[in-house]
Amino acid sequence: MATKVGEWLDQRIGWRSVWETIFLRKVPKVNWFYTLGSATLFTAINQIVTGILLTIYYVPTPDQAYDSVQYITTQVPAGWLIRGLHHWGASAMVVLSVLHMLRVIFYGSYKFPREVTWFTGVGLLLVVLGFGFTGYLLPWDQKAYWATTVGTRIAEVTPFIGDWILRVMRGGSELTAVTLARFFGVHVWFLPAALLALLGIHLYLVVRIGISSIPKREE
Ligand code: HEM
Repeated sequence: MATKVGEWLDQRIGWRSVWETIFLRKVPKVNWFYTLGSATLFTAINQIVTGILLTIYYVPTPDQAYDSVQYITTQVPAGWLIRGLHHWGASAMVVLSVLHMLRVIFYGSYKFPREVTWFTGVGLLLVVLGFGFTGYLLPWDQKAYWATTVGTRIAEVTPFIGDWILRVMRGGSELTAVTLARFFGVHVWFLPAALLALLGIHLYLVVRIGISSIPKREE
């Protein structure tokens, strides 16, 4: 039955050749370090799924944010698990992205013809760090408030445009409801859009160019 449906669909949408190009492509003999990109991809999917679930109960306003996070952790069924997966997944994603980048550097995989894969990777790393920075404020507890106060102050020391950057980040001179709304908007709309766009190009290039092989001593 399943094969018949598969065949019917393939004749109409040609899914089989797409599947074969992505999953049945030839890969050189590599080692475990080459799994770091896929591990990062796994954490990205985890963040998207758990993040979407968190938005069902999270409220991004100063008088509700903290309580809504407490409610998720203590009252919502499996809320502690979803929040925990999102919380620890965030750290895992940063660590794995950096390890994946180090693998790419040590094996020289950024060289021709993979420069654009590298550029999109740099963009992805900035997006991942952006997620961490904006997400940290959302629980709206003392740690979040003061970490963001310090973080935005650090941006303020940028020569010439520092004051402007601080005001754009905070939505004024102080940390207020506008800051929380802004960080939430960036965290759930701007950054995910950038992540999906960059990731789409990144993975398209990985499939199109093929994975690099382990460099030989004489190369
Ligand atoms: C959200 C973050 C990222 C995800 C999900 C991701 C995902 C992947 C995947 C699945 C692969 C193929 C398997 C592998 O080589 O491990 C790959 C390859 C690659 N990635 Fe990433 N990546 C990310 C970040 C980065 C960063 C930060 C860089 C560098 C600045 C980078 C540069 C590259 C390059 C150059 C390749 C080609 C490697 C080769 O052909 O050997 N990526 N990426």
